[in-house]
Amino acid sequence: MNTNLIEAAKNILELNWRDGFTIPTNKLYPFQWNWDSGFVSLGHSYFNLNKSIQELKSLFSGQWENGMVPHIIFHSEKEDTYFPNFDFWDSNVNKGAPQKPKTSGITQPAVHGFVLENLLNKHPDNKDLLAYAKDLFPKIVKYHQFLYTYRDPHREGLMAIFHPWESGRDNSPLWDESLNRITIDRDKLPAYTRRDTSIADASERPTSDQYDRYVYLLQLGKLNQYDGPAIVEESPFLIQDSMMNALLIKSNQSLINIADRFGFDSAQLKEWQQQSIRSFNDKLWNEDLKMYTCYDLRDEKQMAVKEIGGITPIFAGIPSVQQAQHLSDYLMDLHNRDYYLCPSFDVDSPLFDSKRYWRGPVWPQMNWLIYKGLMDYNFFETANIVKSDLIELVDKLGFYEYFESRKSVVKNASKGYGGELFSWTASSILDLIKSK
Ligand code: GLC
Repeated sequence: MNTNLIEAAKNILELNWRDGFTIPTNKLYPFQWNWDSGFVSLGHSYFNLNKSIQELKSLFSGQWENGMVPHIIFHSEKEDTYFPNFDFWDSNVNKGAPQKPKTSGITQPAVHGFVLENLLNKHPDNKDLLAYAKDLFPKIVKYHQFLYTYRDPHREGLMAIFHPWESGRDNSPLWDESLNRITIDRDKLPAYTRRDTSIADASERPTSDQYDRYVYLLQLGKLNQYDGPAIVEESPFLIQDSMMNALLIKSNQSLINIADRFGFDSAQLKEWQQQSIRSFNDKLWNEDLKMYTCYDLRDEKQMAVKEIGGITPIFAGIPSVQQAQHLSDYLMDLHNRDYYLCPSFDVDSPLFDSKRYWRGPVWPQMNWLIYKGLMDYNFFETANIVKSDLIELVDKLGFYEYFESRKSVVKNASKGYGGELFSWTASSILDLIKSK
């Protein structure tokens, strides 16, 4: 079984390779996505390390002068199957955004530090990688600097997002309450036409009311050159996301490790790291839920919701052993209740939807992150279920973007959800099968 999966995964990465980068999937996502690229770079490293390097080079060719690494890099201006496309983002309202490639105006999870460390651990003596790592290191540091400078209004070591798309968990019910705070005046909203629902099943995609709110926040960013102070001062949506901060912390640590390896200075990184970990545990752990939560800076309160982002701090070594035990117990309970791990949202909430985009399904790259974290804390049994559940889903249903989480439904299913022949699904499977 595994040999076939490896072969299939390899073919998908080759199929989705364009001139220097990998698209997540044909049609639905025809450009380069930020955190997808990180996972994909790991996948390529099993067959062609040059592609892993090229993937990251292409991503960072879109880095802004302020340090931001955008969530989409529009290497081609000819594709017209995606909204919002480069012209709608109009990222050159910011003087430091590159003219070419065009990019979006928001960011995505900070995966690059830990991806680079992972590549270096896999290929410690590769000369091309060593040379590239030295080139990339300061660029990643600059990106973290951007997050701590432009997105941490209280200077507490926790970055905030002003658009749900930055979180990578685009339309999790987690964001509903904060998004509903936005009053939509249709006359003031720019005219737009969605493209996703003509490619993917509308029942698996966000609703049009949600889309209006996404466009509203995009517009707010654009009016403020995507980095103006008014964004953190005025945005009705301003959230310290558990996963964004956990991955930033993980990447800080990786950069510190890389700095040690190369003899680079890491004083600034260590300072960020100490403050971030302390604030993270003080502010985001919820003792009633026994899980980490996000913090809504507009409402000045924790968002007391159980969702997959609240488990990811285990990947960054943030929880104590006791806290990590709670996270593992939460997953084991779901396993015993006949769910595939890891459902992306609280299965007991009325907002849980096992089919719709981020509102309950299983996401391959999330299993990868959580598997690694559980292994680090020696929760081998839970880790192995997280790994084998994903392998079973992909083997039975194919390399889809995401998957049904209820076992009773999967029994009679013949395919997964969202895009097909998906790059991060291929990469996650490859790394889960091939790495220890
Ligand atoms: C969706 C996902 C996001 C991902 C993108 C490309 O927007 O929510 O996390 O990066 O698709 O795969």
